[in-house]
Amino acid sequence: MKTALAVVSLTLVNFGVLHGLSIVDEVSGTCCPPVARRQNSIPVHYVTGTHYEVGYSVGRTFGTIIKQFISAYEPLQSELLKMFALPEGRKIYEESLKSTEQYFPQYVIELKGMADGADVPFHELFLMALDDTLPKNLNTSSKDKGPVGCTSFIINNLNAQLLGHTEDAMSETVNNYYIISAHVVPGEDESGGLFAARDEKFEALAYAGHLPGYASGHNHHGLVFSINTIFVSKPLRGKIPREFITRALLASKANLTEIVDVLTNKGIGTADGFNVNFAFLDVPVKSRVFYTAEVTPKAEDNRSEVYLADFGIGRNSLHTNRLLHLKYPELNEAAYGSSVSRESRYRQMTKNRDATSLEDMIEILGNKEDDPWPIFSDKATARVSTIHLGIFDFIGKTWTMWTNDPINNAPLLQLPLTFRNFVNPIGNKVATNKVDAIGTIDEPDN
Ligand SMILES: *[C@@H]1O[C@H](CO)[C@@H](O)[C@H](O)[C@H]1NC(C)=O
Ligand SMILES: *[C@@H]1O[C@H](CO)[C@@H](O)[C@H](O)[C@H]1NC(C)=O
Ligand SMILES: *[C@@H]1O[C@H](CO)[C@@H](O)[C@H](O)[C@H]1NC(C)=O
Repeated sequence: MKTALAVVSLTLVNFGVLHGLSIVDEVSGTCCPPVARRQNSIPVHYVTGTHYEVGYSVGRTFGTIIKQFISAYEPLQSELLKMFALPEGRKIYEESLKSTEQYFPQYVIELKGMADGADVPFHELFLMALDDTLPKNLNTSSKDKGPVGCTSFIINNLNAQLLGHTEDAMSETVNNYYIISAHVVPGEDESGGLFAARDEKFEALAYAGHLPGYASGHNHHGLVFSINTIFVSKPLRGKIPREFITRALLASKANLTEIVDVLTNKGIGTADGFNVNFAFLDVPVKSRVFYTAEVTPKAEDNRSEVYLADFGIGRNSLHTNRLLHLKYPELNEAAYGSSVSRESRYRQMTKNRDATSLEDMIEILGNKEDDPWPIFSDKATARVSTIHLGIFDFIGKTWTMWTNDPINNAPLLQLPLTFRNFVNPIGNKVATNKVDAIGTIDEPDN
């Protein structure tokens, strides 16, 4: 009876509101103030299933975001789709897809699931993953329209062990990302690649329409990492788009040998350049080591080139979007200038005082000086915007996130870095005669 009354009064209220709105509409033509350009919102999607099911669920859930992003993404609309329509462009696309299917069929299937779930063409998602590799191999003088620049900053001492990472992306990407928290159980038809399919449990930031892993994330083995794009001038055709390789990192054990193996990608190798910053969660504070890896294509070999640097206690690291160790031709365009500018601001801020705490990290990663290339870029007119800041705290075991500059805004979200196994289904308890466990479940009702 109560319920029925509530429904009736709600219905009346709704009528009132709708009626009121339609009157306002008629008078002014619009009802509501515009939504802020930078929304304060981070969607988190929990999902379990096969690779296809996980991709499909992400696509279905974020279909509107993915569709909006694809139609606004300038490099795809102005360049990549046109090149895909040319016979030579199509050939470059197919070569790369074939290599990727050979190495990582499970992640191609995951991306197909995403395309199906979002109801968008698969080739548009694969083209965005292929990125510069298509235009650069079709027309060497084409300008980079590429995706992102980011800053990864590591602080390592006995009181603070932090990996901070800004996601800098083309302004279309503002608000167009989400966190995927997935438990993947590969289907029987999803294995067979050079990189064997395995159970995966991870949490990662994903750009709309892209695979998770090419940004920042962590997994149940205790591997925590962030990625920076390296803008090489000679990405190689027939190789693997980098976001498939970093997707595989989400499945990797917290084991240096295995991580280097994934990055080296023996048999094919990466098409494009990137930098990984990482550390392991489950080691004692006093022996924590952070690593940065630079990864580039390798023209004369079927693997990537990998350079590994380590940062033990007392050593910090800042990595942006240019190579500090490996020699491979890089584009001398905006991302390179921006990297030099951000590194120079960092050196200036730490000249007389090392960064040693969370507060220091926030002060540096939130710095907005050096127009047009600040560390934290949030001007409405900027072509590249900082869309997200995440700080992994290895001692507190948390991942704290901001959507807006962290100096003037509180964080919006904090997720634990530990994964919990939920209680087994009750059916299993009964089957194994653990009746006392069922009693425990009933307790909160008493
Ligand atoms: C190659 O790229 C350059 C620079 O963007 C452009 O001016 C030129 O028209 C392109 N050539 C072809 C054949 O697309
Ligand atoms: C790391 O992985 C390699 C290769 O799979 C293996 O040989 C090695 O024993 C592992 N190390 C540890 C500490 O588990
Ligand atoms: C790399 O792989 C391709 C395709 O499988 C093969 O044709 C080529 O000979 C290999 N190159 C080297 C250096 O092994």
